[in-house]
Amino acid sequence: MMRTPRGGRLFLATCLGSLFVLVLYFQSITKPEPGVKTGSRPVKSRSSPLQTLYLGDQQLELLAVQRSLQGRRELMEQACLSHTKKRRVLSSEDLKHLIVDDKHSLIYCYVPKVACTNWKRVLMVLTSGGHYTDPLAIPAHEAHIAGNLRTLSEFSVPEINHRLRTYLKFIFVREPFERLVSAYRNKFTRSYNTAFHKRYGTKIIRRYRPNPEPEALRKGNDVSFHEFVQYLVDPLTRREEPFNEHWEQVHSLCHPCLIHYDVVGKYETLEPDAQAVLHLAGVEGTLQFPTSGKSTRTDGNMAASFFKHISPFYQKKLFNLYRMDFLLFNYSTPEYLRT
Ligand SMILES: *[C@@H]1O[C@H](CO)[C@@H](O)[C@H](O)[C@H]1NC(C)=O
Repeated sequence: MMRTPRGGRLFLATCLGSLFVLVLYFQSITKPEPGVKTGSRPVKSRSSPLQTLYLGDQQLELLAVQRSLQGRRELMEQACLSHTKKRRVLSSEDLKHLIVDDKHSLIYCYVPKVACTNWKRVLMVLTSGGHYTDPLAIPAHEAHIAGNLRTLSEFSVPEINHRLRTYLKFIFVREPFERLVSAYRNKFTRSYNTAFHKRYGTKIIRRYRPNPEPEALRKGNDVSFHEFVQYLVDPLTRREEPFNEHWEQVHSLCHPCLIHYDVVGKYETLEPDAQAVLHLAGVEGTLQFPTSGKSTRTDGNMAASFFKHISPFYQKKLFNLYRMDFLLFNYSTPEYLRT
């Protein structure tokens, strides 16, 4: 593929801009800035979430949780070192999924299908200055309105660097194929999701279904999981446009090898992990993470039944597509795979 001169200049401009972000950020990623110490007994000011995490927390009975969080962090760093060849630089485009809470010094990278609606609700409560108090009182669609929360991409380069250095950065992840099947079920098997049917379903059926019915072509509302998989692994798909965020790899949404997340929470242990974050943020007493009534964590084997009808050829391609997410977040290769 040829790059047009215009594209080249743009690319260069992006690189130069983002170089600043990266360089300044990397100067001090290793340790958080310690709080200012004065000779006299310090006024009882709360330490930031980042300081609480790294400098310890005496009254913390969350030590076991903390250790496991540290293990995940180290594993991720190691996976980044062994599997990324070239260091790319951050651009502000890369920071669109990072939600900022200036009041509590938090940065959260949201990943769709990993309790992100509830995290957005919580962050709306935290940043609303008292306007909201109950996360669940916020309608789901409101939590997703762009502009209700600030993202890191909206800030200037020095402001970005300052926040990356001093805020607690966290992310919640999920077994990649469980997340994928959850996205498929939510976007393609529910009759109300007509926007996704029109936008993606019609295209998928046109491309991958032999002799489609005119109605299916028009509505795009009966995409099979197999057709969806064909769409995902087709190189043409990502050449046309980036994946939709519901099936984009976490690696591509949140850039965990460039942004050093302090806490990697897991959907499989959502409750204790969410509580650990709220504890670090110092709001554990005033705010509870909403866990939906339906026990989401018990259906941890949803993917197996969906993969039964996928050939080893496509299973392998799909696994390669999401391989980084498996490696970075320590998910083992599913036993049901035939590759
Ligand atoms: C990685 O996963 C394995 C197997 O599930 C587990 O035993 C191990 O503790 C995990 N490591 C970390 C650092 O979480």
